[in-house]
Amino acid sequence: MPKKIRDKVNDLLNSEEEIANVIVKGWVRTRRDSKGGFSFLEINDGSCLVGIQVVADHNLKSYQAVAEHLHTGSCVAITGKLVASPGKEQKWEVHASEIELYGSADAEKYPLQKKRHSFEFLREIAHLRPRTNTIGAVMRVRNRLSYSVHKFFQDRGFLYLHTPIITASDCEGAGEMFQVTTLNLDQPPMNNGKTDYSQDFFGKKTALTVSGQLEGEIYAMALSDIYTFGPTFRAENSNTSRHLAEFWMVEPEMAFYDLDDDIDLAEEFIKFLLKDVLENCQQDMEFFNKRIDKTILQTLTGIVDCDFERIHYSDAIHMLEKSSEKFVYSVEWGCNLQSEHERYLSEKVFKKPVVIYNYPEGIKPFYMKMNEDKETVRAMDVLLPKLGEIIGGSQREDDLDALTARMKEKGLDPKEYWWYLDLRRYGSAPHSGFGLGFERLVQFVTGMENIRDVIPFPRTPKHASF
Ligand code: 4AD
Ligand code: MG
Repeated sequence: MPKKIRDKVNDLLNSEEEIANVIVKGWVRTRRDSKGGFSFLEINDGSCLVGIQVVADHNLKSYQAVAEHLHTGSCVAITGKLVASPGKEQKWEVHASEIELYGSADAEKYPLQKKRHSFEFLREIAHLRPRTNTIGAVMRVRNRLSYSVHKFFQDRGFLYLHTPIITASDCEGAGEMFQVTTLNLDQPPMNNGKTDYSQDFFGKKTALTVSGQLEGEIYAMALSDIYTFGPTFRAENSNTSRHLAEFWMVEPEMAFYDLDDDIDLAEEFIKFLLKDVLENCQQDMEFFNKRIDKTILQTLTGIVDCDFERIHYSDAIHMLEKSSEKFVYSVEWGCNLQSEHERYLSEKVFKKPVVIYNYPEGIKPFYMKMNEDKETVRAMDVLLPKLGEIIGGSQREDDLDALTARMKEKGLDPKEYWWYLDLRRYGSAPHSGFGLGFERLVQFVTGMENIRDVIPFPRTPKHASF
């Protein structure tokens, strides 16, 4: 048995019986003093949403010694007895026999005095916001979702692959990469009027990855079913509630899957994650349902039980063109769908998740497999009500000539991707995969309005505080 450091609040609140000797360590959320000579402290240690009530007798010596420094935000260790609480709010409370103050928090200055704060304000104190109910609940749900991402794939025999963060290739071809360099940017070495990257750290131009897919494909062409789950970076100047410059992505890549198999896996994956959270994060989910989005439990339960709608891109365009809805961006065949279109289809038309597939080749990256019509590629996006796109994926082009031709059309130099083309040269196989934006998932599950509030330290244009 490891040494006992303290009793976690969550364990005490779920106790089946009184316990003669417990030690609670945590932060004071509230303090109330009664006329009868007692103080009631609510202590939270992050192990669950609610805190445990501690009753401290004013005659207690160790209490008298610290009482004037014991405010909201202070950190304490409390020894005492776990007993049934007479109050209606909680089953158990702790009667203190000894109180030790680890660190006080000046009541005049501690920024989290008030009960409620705006999320904008909390973003400015990203070092203290984990002590709020909402951010605590978000991070517990985020933690559970990470666990169940691994559980889903491990249970199905997928291999967890660590793909590189620094890369020399732009997977999505959108040129939205953060450059990585050790060159002196004030005076870079030049060659024929251009920066001489042969003198850079890696001897070539490199950047932070936008996706682990290309490296994932390499391993799928040997180990058949793999997934990545790691940070990705996009230097896109999107100041929306659904975009981050640094976000986490889950990317499975499967040999021998075609586009339909890929969509089946994506649907099963989303349902698995939602069901798991509903079963294992009940208290936090009830909190979100009460305070953040009153329909969230109903929405998630509905999705677990439904069949996702699957429609061709061309049919989606047709529906949008026919609709009487006023969109900011008009649609025509060949255009990228905007979030307003995606939400309209999933929220208003189908009222459930929608998978759109077979997109025009012109708006999709070079690696997607061309359909026989030569106009569309085997791409798919999964759209969720209120959120829009959560997953983007495709069957990959596995024909060497077709892939080379498509690269050239997109202005990519096949020589730079010789290793990617080798996969089609030696033992090529049909294969598919997708990428799920992990923060979008956490956002959807919790009902949080802004993606910046579901990642511990959000990075967005002009914002990267510590
Ligand atoms: O659709 P995307 O760009 O697809 C890829 O990167 C493929 N290489 C994935 C693959 O097939 N292996 O991104 C995948 C998902 C999106 O559906 C979205 O959920 C999320 O990543 N995403 C973002 N999330 C937060 N902030 C951003 N700036 C995001 N960009 C994409
Ligand atoms: Mg996409």
